[in-house]
Amino acid sequence: MKREIIAGNWKMNCTKAETVELIEKLLPLVGDPGKMEVVICVPFTNIDAARKALRGHKSIALGAQNVHWAPKGAFTGEISAEMLKALKVKYVIIGHSERRQYFGETDQSVNARMKAAVAAGLKVIVCVGETLEEREAGKTREVLLRQTSAAFEGIDKSALKQIVIAYEPVWAIGTGKTATPKEANTAAFVIRKALRKQYGRTPAHAMRVQYGGSMNASNVKELMAMPQIDGGLIGGASLKPAEFAKIVHYTEL
Ligand code: PGA
Repeated sequence: MKREIIAGNWKMNCTKAETVELIEKLLPLVGDPGKMEVVICVPFTNIDAARKALRGHKSIALGAQNVHWAPKGAFTGEISAEMLKALKVKYVIIGHSERRQYFGETDQSVNARMKAAVAAGLKVIVCVGETLEEREAGKTREVLLRQTSAAFEGIDKSALKQIVIAYEPVWAIGTGKTATPKEANTAAFVIRKALRKQYGRTPAHAMRVQYGGSMNASNVKELMAMPQIDGGLIGGASLKPAEFAKIVHYTEL
């Protein structure tokens, strides 16, 4: 049985003070998450405050939302894997569709970031997903296979346990539209197919695939019931403590 994982992607939200406030509300609501792995990915500037607010609580792990591929150097505005490690960050999101869409992220840069993060010992949530245009053109499968293979190029089998994949259909992110459980399941199956080709059946099957895109307390149960789905990457709903806690404890809903 794989350990399920619910991760909150706070995106560009909350000041330092608001971060502490939100975490203080969240901790008692999440309580003991049981076997569920819970992560919150906060903006870089709030990592240190979040770490302090989470201190002594094993229930929620800390993540960042991006990482640069170089160890250091002339890359204005960027943050290295070592810098994140030094802040005791455990997870990092890579290749989120908003980065692909607005900040020129490519399959190649996603792969470069993956390599750096994995080498530094960070855990990675790597995002893949098709746009509405691609889905309507019948290209979903092709896009998922391409993005997954590219992201994992040159990544050793031994690093797979550090990596979680998030299937995030771009048309479902922040739109209130959710992929049907069946659509999400099919997409996760296609992602595993790409992994199977590269690493073989057993390692591909052992990897965790999350669904992301307007996941909330009302739809989490049916999405998590899908055999190919092992977790969720939550945007909007992760900023609402009670809602996020419900998602974490979805089996009790
Ligand atoms: P959403 O975002 O839950 O607000 O749709 C998900 C994500 O972008 O990770």
